[in-house]
Amino acid sequence: MTEWHFYEPHAGHRLPHDPLNAMVAPRPIGWISSVSAEGARNIAPYSFFNLLNYTPPLIGFSSMGWKDSVANIAATGEFVWNLATRELAGAMNATSATVGAEVDEFDLAGLETAPSRLVRPERVAASPVAFECRLTQLIRLTTREGRELDQWLVIGEAVGIHIATAMLEDGVYQTARARPILRGGGPADYFEIAEANLFHMRRPG
Ligand SMILES: Cc1cc2nc3c(=O)[nH]c(=O)nc-3n(C[C@H](O)[C@H](O)[C@H](O)COP(=O)(O)O)c2cc1C
Repeated sequence: MTEWHFYEPHAGHRLPHDPLNAMVAPRPIGWISSVSAEGARNIAPYSFFNLLNYTPPLIGFSSMGWKDSVANIAATGEFVWNLATRELAGAMNATSATVGAEVDEFDLAGLETAPSRLVRPERVAASPVAFECRLTQLIRLTTREGRELDQWLVIGEAVGIHIATAMLEDGVYQTARARPILRGGGPADYFEIAEANLFHMRRPG
């Protein structure tokens, strides 16, 4: 018989490490570039991130606190999502440094940029996929009692999408080819997507 560890999060997990983000894992990384109202460049990773809708494509990330990315997007209504790859892992991590809004994390991480077409924030030149987004909703998260948290869910519509054509095989996007990285739990766990882990299963008809 399976034994279970059950806990109610409000009362504590009673484990040496909080398992929460190791269980909902691995999570894709929202590597978000934005600019301030004055035009200062910013880029940071957010793993509370996902694709939320197909048509129109909506993506969202949540920020623990009113961070520079959220402040910029609230002010300008624009951001870019850049795909984080194994090759760019170190640079992605470097852009998570807690630095002042005036510090350009592209420079900090030694990242070259490429211009976006429809929005002002630039994209990571070496990232094989980028979504240019316009803010659709900025939602303050609450507890079940309705107590407002200092946690912010940013949702944007992808209005322009860049794909390096090397990621396409006969026009079909190859997920593993870019070697995307995803966030596991704990202070340092990541996973890399590899072709060897691919399997197929169709939905019931
Ligand atoms: C892989 C990774 C994932 C992260 N995910 C989040 C997240 O989901 N929410 C968050 O608030 N911070 C997250 N962080 C921390 C932010 O990247 C960090 O606070 C950063 O300085 C925020 O930058 P900004 O103030 O320029 O927006 C993450 C860091 C890393 C390395």
